[in-house]
Amino acid sequence: MREPFVPPPYPYDRLDELKAVGSGLPGGLVDLSIGTPCDPPPPAVIEALARSGAERGYPASIGSAAYREAAAGWMARRLGVDVDPTNVAACVGTKELVAGVPQLLRLRRPDLDTVLYPAISYPTYAMGATLAGCRAVPYRELDAIDPADAARALCLWVNVPGNPTGELGDLGAAAAWGREHGVPVLSDECYVEFTWEGPPRTILEHGHDGVVAVHSLSKRSNLAGARAGMYAGDPALVHYLSEVRKHAGFMVPGPVQAAAIAAWGDDDHVDEQRERYRQRLDGMAAALSKAGIDAPTPSGAFYLWVPAPDGDAWALARRLAETGGCLVSPGEFYGPAGAGFVRVAVVQPDDRIALVADRLATA
Ligand SMILES: Cc1ncc(COP(=O)(O)O)c(C=O)c1O
Repeated sequence: MREPFVPPPYPYDRLDELKAVGSGLPGGLVDLSIGTPCDPPPPAVIEALARSGAERGYPASIGSAAYREAAAGWMARRLGVDVDPTNVAACVGTKELVAGVPQLLRLRRPDLDTVLYPAISYPTYAMGATLAGCRAVPYRELDAIDPADAARALCLWVNVPGNPTGELGDLGAAAAWGREHGVPVLSDECYVEFTWEGPPRTILEHGHDGVVAVHSLSKRSNLAGARAGMYAGDPALVHYLSEVRKHAGFMVPGPVQAAAIAAWGDDDHVDEQRERYRQRLDGMAAALSKAGIDAPTPSGAFYLWVPAPDGDAWALARRLAETGGCLVSPGEFYGPAGAGFVRVAVVQPDDRIALVADRLATA
């Protein structure tokens, strides 16, 4: 018999004590733990949200035609890939999809029970496996995946640029691995607009067969509170997932769909946002460096992945709370392999980041 499921503590709830430490400093806590945007979405997006008139009726679970066309148009413009809007479907932000997809894939393939995910990564890949009663099996390199695990895999997750490391993994290799092993590859690309080295990358550059790209407006357009995302790629997979999700009642609210159409249609606000994150990453890395903490700048995303000087991430997090008044995430939140690092999310306004820099400089 299986053990009853007891939800583990939510990672960020484990930071309460350090939060209290940072809050005690004059000027208060600067929260650099959760990657939640602080900057405003563009006014036209808020206008569309307020004035859509779409609040009365049920919205389409798969997303309106205009929603899917706007998403496909954005992919063509910014990522250089042609996607037929019929192979695009809506999700209510992407976390629910990430957490729920193993269960849906398992309904289709009850003989499989394994989710493969990067060893240092967003915790919801592993949690999605757990919630489906599956095995969550981390991998470091595609080549090192045990063939026995590959044979049992419902899917393989990739995340480029990666949270928390900012790394730009090889999406072509992931697509090829999936095809070779007959395992669907799910590519979480929510930080794609914040790629700092080279052009933005999507797995759909490498064909659509057996792969699905997952995208969010939370980071791109500062719409994490509205909950809008989409997935696109392999027609059979997108069709299967969107049909089951329709039965389950997943729907992006109509007004949010209207806002999302406006957001996907505009790139200027994203270029501004890129500049903000770029400056904050540089500013924060410089402040840490002055305090004797080496913080390499990432290849993508808006996190600094900082090795703890003596390998003790909780001690570094405490030091930063005590001297900088800032809250950061110990790397173990992203898997045991991340234990010697902390993640610093530059998701606070410039003056708050500057306050941390001043405090660190005078500590
Ligand atoms: C890698 C990754 N995927 C997915 C998400 C979920 O974003 P959302 O549910 O807001 O689309 C996050 C949020 O931090 C993330 O870091």
